[in-house]
This record gives sequence, C-alpha cells and structure tokens, in this order.
Amino acid sequence: MVPPNSGPTIAEQCFGDATVSPELDWTHARQSLSGPGNAGMNIAYAAVDRHVAAGRGGRPAILSLGRRYEKRRLSYAQLADLSARLAAVLAAHGVGAGDKVAVLTGRSVELYVAAFGCWKVGAVYCPLFSAFGPGPLKSRLELSRAKVLIATEELYRRKIAAQRPALPDLQTVLLVGADGEMVETDGALDFNAAINAAQPAPILATTPEMPAFLHFTSGTTGTPKGVLHSHSAVVAEALTARQVFGLVPDDVFWCTADPGWITNTAYALIAPLANGCQVVVDEDDFDPRRWYGILKDEKVTVWYTTPTNIRMMMRYGAALARAYKENSLRVAASVGEPLNPEAVAWGEKALGVPFLDTWWQTETGAIAIANCPGKAKAGSMGMPLPGVEAAVISRDLSSVTPVGRADEVGELALRADLPSMFTAYMGEGANYDLSFIDGWYLTGDLVRRDADGCFWFVGRADDMIKSASHTIGPFEVECGLMDHPAVAEIGVVGKPDLLLREVPVAFISLNPGFEAGEALRVELLTFARQCLGGTLAPREIHFVDSMPKTTTGKILRRALKAKAVAEPEEDGEPLIVPVMAPGRFDDE
Ligand code: PRX
Repeated sequence: MVPPNSGPTIAEQCFGDATVSPELDWTHARQSLSGPGNAGMNIAYAAVDRHVAAGRGGRPAILSLGRRYEKRRLSYAQLADLSARLAAVLAAHGVGAGDKVAVLTGRSVELYVAAFGCWKVGAVYCPLFSAFGPGPLKSRLELSRAKVLIATEELYRRKIAAQRPALPDLQTVLLVGADGEMVETDGALDFNAAINAAQPAPILATTPEMPAFLHFTSGTTGTPKGVLHSHSAVVAEALTARQVFGLVPDDVFWCTADPGWITNTAYALIAPLANGCQVVVDEDDFDPRRWYGILKDEKVTVWYTTPTNIRMMMRYGAALARAYKENSLRVAASVGEPLNPEAVAWGEKALGVPFLDTWWQTETGAIAIANCPGKAKAGSMGMPLPGVEAAVISRDLSSVTPVGRADEVGELALRADLPSMFTAYMGEGANYDLSFIDGWYLTGDLVRRDADGCFWFVGRADDMIKSASHTIGPFEVECGLMDHPAVAEIGVVGKPDLLLREVPVAFISLNPGFEAGEALRVELLTFARQCLGGTLAPREIHFVDSMPKTTTGKILRRALKAKAVAEPEEDGEPLIVPVMAPGRFDDE
C-alpha cells in the first residue's frame, strides 16, 4: 500500500505520470518531456536539465570506466553544467541551430558533454565510428559539412589531421586529452580548457521538428546515407525504453554500442537519461571477464548489447559466466541482427534473466518491434510496440499491398508517423521520398509474420552486409579498394560467419602488370585495413580472371555470393576473440 502523503515517486516525477503505465502514449510522453511554457522540445532539456529543474540534479547520471578501470562519475547537475558550458563554447565559434558538429571521442564522459552541448545550442550532433579508417571518416565529414569536430587527440592525430586541408567546412577542432602538440601545430583547441573558461549558456527552445542528430548508414551507392533525426526522437526513445526494458530511475543501464551507431545515441545517451537512470559507460573494448565484472560489480540492472557480443561471450565458456552469476540484472536485450534461439537460451542461463531481441533501424530512430518480458518468442523479432503499426507487404513503384497469409515472406513496412522517424537523408546515398509509399515507411528488410502476430527476420532485400551488427554497404568497400592501382574490378559480398553472422569478402580482377598471389593479397588486405579501418575492410580477398556480370554489365553479386560460400576459409586476420568451445550449462 502507498503510504499517505508520500508524494509522487521518482518514476512518477520523471514522466509526470501518476500511473507509471508502460503503455503511456506518444502524446503523454511528448507533454512530459517538453520544456515548460513555450520552452519547446529539446533533447538536452528532456533528458538532463528537466531532472535538475525538478530537484533531481544530485542523482547519478554517468559512471564511466576508463581503460584501467578508473571511475569517473557525473551527476545530472554536473552534466547539465558541463554541457551548458560547451554550448557556450560552440556558440562562440559560430555554431548555431542546424550546424553540424562531428564527434569522434569513443565512449567517454566527453561524448555525453559533447552531445548534450550540441543539443543545447541547437546544433546537429554527428558521432563517428572510431574503428573507421581515414577514408570513411573523411567522406562522412565531407557529407555532413561539419563546422566543428570534437575528437580525442589520439584519434584526431591518427585519422584526421592529415586530411584537414581537404575539409574546408571544418573550422574548429576541439581536442579531448590534448597534449599541446596539435593545439600548436594544427590550431586545435583544448576541449577541457575551453569548457572551464566558459560560462553556461541557456538551452535553445528548439521545436520538435528541428534537426538534432545525424548518423551515417550504408547506402546502395558508394556514398553513405546521412540519416537526419529531429528533437522529437526523444519521445519515442524514452517511451520505448519504458515499454521494452521497463526503465525506472533506480535502474543502472548499460548499452555497449559504439557512438557511431545510432543505438548509442538513442539508448546509451538519450533514453536512459530521459528516464532518470544512471548509465554505465565502458571506455574499453570487448573483454569477457571485464564485461561480466562490470555487470556484477556496477550492479547493472538493464543491459543492451548485440548478438555478436553474446556469441563472443559464449565462446569463453560457461565456467566464466558462472563465476559472475550473482548480479543485479533484471533484463538483457540485443539489437542489430537476428538473435538465434541458442544465444537466447545461453544468455538467459548465463545471466539468469530474460534475454530479449529488439528490432529497429537507423531510420526508425527507436525500437519498433520487440520481444517484451512475458511475451517473448526466442528467435523472433517480437511484436510491434504499442503505437507502432507494422505490415508485411509487396510493392510496386507507387503502391503497397499487405500480404494476406500468415508466414508469407514480404517486405517489412511501418506506418511513417513514429515520433523518431528520420526526417531527411543527406548526401546522394538515397532518396528520402522513395523510402515512403502511401504513408508507409519501407524498411528493405524481408520478414514473415506468424499466426500469433510475431515477426521473423528473413533477410535484407538489398545487398547490405551485416557483420557484427554493422550494416556495411559493399559499394563503399569496393570504392575504397579501387584506389589501389592493382584493382581493375571488384565485387564485395557477405560470407556467412558463425560468430559475426557475415564477413565482407572481396573478389578482385587485376590490372595488367600485377600478379595474383599471396604477396599481393596481403598488400591489398593491409591497404584496405589502413584506408577503410577494421570494420569495413574485407576479411578475405579472392582473385578472379573476370567478374560475373548481368547482361547490362552490372556485377552479379548472387554468383559471387555463391562462390564466397563455396570458398574454404582462408588464414587471414584472426577473428576478434580466440575461439573456445561454447559453454554448456546442462551440466549444472
Ligand atoms: O536488417 C535489419 C538489421 O539491421 C538493420 C538496421 O541496421 P542499422 O540501421 O545499422 O541499425 C540501427 C540500430 C538497430 C535492419 O534493417 N536488424 C536490426 N535489428 C535486427 C535486425 N535484423 C534482425 N533482427 C533484429 N533484431
């Protein structure tokens, strides 16, 4: 029974909702998250300053774990203050509403300060993958036309500095952990010194439609697609986190995604803070012992990761999992690729909690289809969340037709009225209007819906490669390798992989004067790693005399894919983790 005069709980205060129902609707959430009076809707207000204004500023917002496990903590009030100072720094460097600010800091406290600082000044936060090489980073900086870059000194020095003269839009560089060298030679500024010297700026009263963040995903041409989102995304992100994870302010939420992936923006930055939780930020790379340790020692209650990560943990065996089994977890979930039932079963045994698959895309901005506690079907994507209308369709150029029968395969389409639906594509990678027909957004994913209304992922309708949850456009990889003088023609396809689901492999025909052989193969693999980075670079290269083509001269990917499946695995770069036998729990 609720004690008399106890006042609203923190959960109720966060959403201003007396019932704290997970079925809250978009309208209600929108009202709760907006600024008072005419203060508009701004993600920074909704997720950070709203809590400070309501007297919750002292609550913990961020626990960041450095590479040597150094702990840094920030309260909501401290995050509000630092981001307001950064907003002032950005404004002083000419950044205003709609200007793009690129961020390359990896997972860190500074990432949060950067994102919320951008939103406070009305700028568009544009985070980049730190695993990308100089080539893909440059093309994304060019496409975004970013005016300011916030980066760690190390990443800037290694990946951007040499290209700075070719980036005329980039006017200001703010460096985290600057040791002075780049500040002197490159005219860069020290991020922390600039913030310390600034006075906090007020939050700009943005409208829900104003642009807030930009993520790049792979396009069907060589150019990546810049997917633009507005401030109203916070409504769907905050609400879906309530619906799927049941987030309440006492939760400790850990999302393992890299900042370049929208999963980080939506569910490491925005959703948990909008719900008043504490987020855990791990600045280091994957390490199973460390990860189990974080889950246990930092008392994580909700964990959001990828199927690849779970499969990697499986490879380290059940004994390790068992050593860390005492934890505070309430629920774990994954996104990015299908979560196979074996991984669900293993995850649930290893962690002792429900392990839920969720489906969404960079374009949808928030989870649209998910398994929810109590109604999950292992191996499926789950069901559309309340407020989301999903259909399995077939289409022609101007109309969509829902498929009639259960289990019939078709393209997944969503009603386009989600508050987090993207608002534009930047760059030439795709045409925004072609993504919609008759008020439906077309996802490009092939699915089937079973008789219970559960959706099952079948595959992509296009050539995209899914590797460790990254969506890789074969065209971008091909363009990167075409810069090598040996390459006459190239076709890149996904080869099935037990751990990463798929890996990009390249088929190459050579220019005259170059000889196919081990030396050239190693040279090309190294070239690809240097220019594209580890995520996009092909894992294997096969030389072919000629490329299979369609009658219109297009590379026949289906034929290459069949060849890739038939090729024995090569001794290339070892996969990210040593392979160990999957653990068994049935011996308990
Ligand atoms: O093909 C689907 C796959 O990932 C694509 C979206 O990739 P991206 O925009 O990079 O990710 C954004 C954040 C999720 C989808 O079109 N995908 C995502 N989740 C699932 C999935 N495939 C199967 N099951 C999932 N749960």
